[in-house]
Amino acid sequence: MSYNTITVSNLTPTIGGEVSGIDLTAPLPAEQVEELHAAMADRLVLFFRDQKIGHEDHIRFANLFGGVHIAPSTKPWQVPGHPEVTIIHADADSKFVAGEDWHSDMSCDEHPPMGSVLYMHTIPPVGGDTVFSNMYAAYDALSPGMKAYLDGLTAVHDSAVGFGGITPEGMKLPRHSHPVIRTHPVTGRKCIYVNRGFTTHIEDVPAVESRAILSFLFEHVQHPQFQCRFRWQPHSIAFWDNRCAQHSAIWDYFPQTRSGFRVQILGEKPA
Ligand code: SIN
Repeated sequence: MSYNTITVSNLTPTIGGEVSGIDLTAPLPAEQVEELHAAMADRLVLFFRDQKIGHEDHIRFANLFGGVHIAPSTKPWQVPGHPEVTIIHADADSKFVAGEDWHSDMSCDEHPPMGSVLYMHTIPPVGGDTVFSNMYAAYDALSPGMKAYLDGLTAVHDSAVGFGGITPEGMKLPRHSHPVIRTHPVTGRKCIYVNRGFTTHIEDVPAVESRAILSFLFEHVQHPQFQCRFRWQPHSIAFWDNRCAQHSAIWDYFPQTRSGFRVQILGEKPA
């Protein structure tokens, strides 16, 4: 695709575009916003370099794609005065990191966030990449028989898998059922919508069958052909579409520090 106001370099043929010719510390012209929407529908995840944004810039950018989603968590990870901004941080004291398992953010919500905007200011000397996978491509690669089988099935997504189901303040986190194959509201394309980070079982099939099918799908969505891998630098941003992409944060840099902020964008009930 070609654009008038931005340049987009593809990371792989399947997913990911690095956007240049843009300044996210200032309000964007309408044509640039329109082109970002088009690039997002085409590439599923967009990357930006050298954007020294503040919380207000971050929130303004997220608002261009829908309202800001406030996660049902939790004070230790919220920026004081900005409940919409979540701290993503790991260092020598960390026992785990956010998003290591393949997942789509908060798919356990009734209305999971449409997208996430992650800004990193501190990056380890090497490592700490994030890998993204294209769920349209994963769906398209299934056999016709498997597509027919999965269409119409639903699966339960439970925060207990990723977060133990409860916040540090004792607030209960959600559990919801969504279609195994969802249709993207913008592109109209079908994609796989189960993930290792949140999905517990497929409904209305025997438990052993659910386990076998989910285990196949969790492995299938990780095929390198569906992926791109982003190497962060300080002040890089990744903006991904949770409806049609999964991601995994690689924790290969312990005990180094990796730190930034994430804002999520309101989404619709998966259909
Ligand atoms: C996340 O899953 O939102 C975090 C991704 C990352 O830290 O790269």
